[in-house]
Amino acid sequence: MRLAVIGCGYVGLVTGSCLAEAGHEVMATDNDPVRIGMLNAGRLPIYEPGLDKVMESAIAAGRLRFTSDCAQAVTPADAIFICVGTPPLESGEADLSAIDNVARQIAAASRSPKLVIEKSTVPAQTGEQLRHALHVYGRSKGATFRVASNPEFLREGTAVGDFFHPDRIVVGVEDVESEAQLREIYKPFLEGRFHCPVHEPKCPAGPAPVFLVTTIASAELIKHASNSFLGLKISYANLIADLCEKLGGNVEEVTRAVGLDPRIGPHFLNDGLGFGGFCLPKDIQAFIRLAEKNGIDFSLLKEVEAVNKRRIDQFVEKVRRALWVVKEKTVGVLGLAFKPNTDDVRFAPAIEVVRRLLAEGATVRASDPVAMERARPLLNGAAFVADPYEVAHGADALLLLTEWKEYRELDWKRIYREMARPLIVDARNMLPPAKMKELGFEYHSFGRPDLTANTVLTL
Ligand code: UDX
Repeated sequence: MRLAVIGCGYVGLVTGSCLAEAGHEVMATDNDPVRIGMLNAGRLPIYEPGLDKVMESAIAAGRLRFTSDCAQAVTPADAIFICVGTPPLESGEADLSAIDNVARQIAAASRSPKLVIEKSTVPAQTGEQLRHALHVYGRSKGATFRVASNPEFLREGTAVGDFFHPDRIVVGVEDVESEAQLREIYKPFLEGRFHCPVHEPKCPAGPAPVFLVTTIASAELIKHASNSFLGLKISYANLIADLCEKLGGNVEEVTRAVGLDPRIGPHFLNDGLGFGGFCLPKDIQAFIRLAEKNGIDFSLLKEVEAVNKRRIDQFVEKVRRALWVVKEKTVGVLGLAFKPNTDDVRFAPAIEVVRRLLAEGATVRASDPVAMERARPLLNGAAFVADPYEVAHGADALLLLTEWKEYRELDWKRIYREMARPLIVDARNMLPPAKMKELGFEYHSFGRPDLTANTVLTL
């Protein structure tokens, strides 16, 4: 099928590349000509593991092309995926101006029937507004529009694998033609007929995805409801960690046992610095505003947000208490991205922690395997160093802020030798406390008994 993808952010690029790899003809477009220039030169504007391989393969097969001219993508397409950003407004509501803009461009460029699919995360009822905009602006002969919602559940860092192996494909439609067209688009994924570069040579056996057909309003709600629930689980685990700290429990033991109940499940129960990134925080905010506007008291989610914000205060307080005076101390920071396997630092808790330490007069030396370039403009005054051992050199404290696998595997004996004071504050519970004590570190984390080698302080 001929498809257009509007918006070449991570969702658009993953969607376009994977659909092209699976056999569709895809023309992707973005209003940023620099981004399109990079893509046409074969360079990816984002870091997403596996995406380079899929993109190269789809381009080589002649099925994936890029253009900065939206009309060139839209006019020949049978179905159009809208993958533009919906950032939060000051009020927390989603800014839908990019969707509105794209709707008018689609309407102007269409000369034939189109299925217009919302993939961007939008509040319920956006589908209706979109349909209205397409109808009032689409005046060309032959242009008719059907609207559908097809929310994505792509996690940054594993988005390519998530696209090839979804647990569910949700399609919100208003007629059987749209359902049939979306079934056709996703047929290769439903039937396991694709070349998956993530698990070469063979994908692990797993259940086929559930193809779930709903109304458009339900599909729109499903995305916000899913992400808000994930945030809720994390904040819940964080409160359990607080209780463990007070009562001498170990949060890992508690959440593991809790997660073994299949009604709860083991995922998203990791406590620590809280959730960040461009999706969870903004989707929760938008869901709260949507509820408020419709007279529903969703203060449960306000509490989820409040607990999440407190994690940063609590972490900085741990650092303060361990260092006594922060001013003029050298603090090494490992991890800046909002989670591992991405260079995304938007709403990353690590960035806020570093900002606060800088404001208190610390000398900060920071590192991240891939996010340093994106973090640099946000952290005036911090030094950026690629080598983690150099980060530790002469430091009064080393903070672990993103749980990159590489950091678990560091030579901690060497880190011990490098540091001026062997103090580690681990915001992600990455390292085993007993081992760190054995190595001689003063080691603090969240919700686990502190085992400190050289100190009598209980933090
Ligand atoms: C999320 C959703 O998971 C995905 O389905 C949706 O489409 C987009 O939003 P993403 O933003 O990539 O994906 O991040 P995710 O993996 O959900 O992690 C979000 C944040 O929660 C990260 O900051 C992570 O560090 C934190 N987190 C996650 C925890 O603090 N504890 C956990 O147990 C899990």
